[in-house]
Amino acid sequence: MNKFTDTQQQLQQQPCTWLVTGVAGFIGSNLLEALLKLGQKVVGLDNFATGHQRNLDEVQGLVTSQQWQNFSFIEGDIRHIDACHQALDGVDYVLHQAALGSVPRSLNDPATTNDVNISGFLNMLITAKEAQVKNFVYAASSSTYGDHPALPKVEPNIGNPLSPYAVTKYVNELYADVFSKSYGFNATGLRYFNVFGRRQDPDGAYAAVIPKWTAAMNKQQVVQINGDGETSRDFCYIENVVQMNILAATTLLDKSEVFNVAVGDRTTLNELFGAIQSALAEQGVSYDIAAKYADFRAGDVRHSQADVTKAKTLLGYDPQFRISEGISLTMPWYIANV
Ligand SMILES: NC(=O)c1ccc[n+]([C@@H]2O[C@H](COP(=O)([O-])OP(=O)(O)OC[C@H]3O[C@@H](n4cnc5c(N)ncnc54)[C@H](O)[C@@H]3O)[C@@H](O)[C@H]2O)c1
Repeated sequence: MNKFTDTQQQLQQQPCTWLVTGVAGFIGSNLLEALLKLGQKVVGLDNFATGHQRNLDEVQGLVTSQQWQNFSFIEGDIRHIDACHQALDGVDYVLHQAALGSVPRSLNDPATTNDVNISGFLNMLITAKEAQVKNFVYAASSSTYGDHPALPKVEPNIGNPLSPYAVTKYVNELYADVFSKSYGFNATGLRYFNVFGRRQDPDGAYAAVIPKWTAAMNKQQVVQINGDGETSRDFCYIENVVQMNILAATTLLDKSEVFNVAVGDRTTLNELFGAIQSALAEQGVSYDIAAKYADFRAGDVRHSQADVTKAKTLLGYDPQFRISEGISLTMPWYIANV
């Protein structure tokens, strides 16, 4: 039996209380769904900055009414320490997802990104330490690799950040490390690499590439590729991320650690375009409009691919979904929702 199956069974036998911040967002709402289906109690905290009530409503429709009764929602802001205190009452495990994502957003408004992603993060760390939670897991980012050229990316080898967003995510790691050394309070950082799946927002200026392109292609609109299309990423389906959060929370480590969360694959934007086109075709949507190439986007890392050996070794991580399976699984949701 693999470690994740084992862990899920243990949680079902002895349910715990989890705080998911950013619960109305893409990753947060998927964590909520998985935890409720495992019979866990979940407290959610979100201020709807980029998350949506519709994500919570969708989860409600996917779980039983009894499972839904195990969820309590607090509309609040991690920049307000009282909201953090309130949310942490009686919590065993924290999955801290709330942050302002997007490199371009951080270039346009570095101050707000800093407030939420650093001051808000620090509030969560301080209050979680005081609440003596069993474990604190937080969303870090592959953007922390910055301008380091090596591929695949291995956790200790990072370069200089290329955007304010990357600075904030790196500062989170520094705080986690200092809290471990100064107070013996450990926090596990998950460096997500381009996550995708159901409920990822396709709208707005800061939408991620997969939902943005899928929505455009489904509506027979032209897709814009930034650069020559040879920029590459290790796209990671949401179910791998759910697995990693649950394993990281339930594995007690003797210090703060960071882990890559991806698959270990590398897909160029040109290949991604073709993969979405094929997945749409599988669903009966034919798309044959040529992509438009534009300038490279400021602050973007050129290539990204994870080495996930550390997560496999220390946490028993075993990613089950590669990009093509993830895209096929997500496509019906996009066709129905965008
Ligand atoms: N999606 C990815 O590919 C990816 C990659 C690397 C890191 N991450 C990180 O993962 C986490 C979740 O990302 P996501 O893709 O689900 O984004 P998302 O925007 O869908 O979710 C973030 C959630 O946090 C909430 N939030 C923002 N500011 C808040 C505040 N001040 N107080 C309370 N709630 C607040 C938003 O309303 C939203 O529901 C973020 O920390 C992000 O930086 C995501």
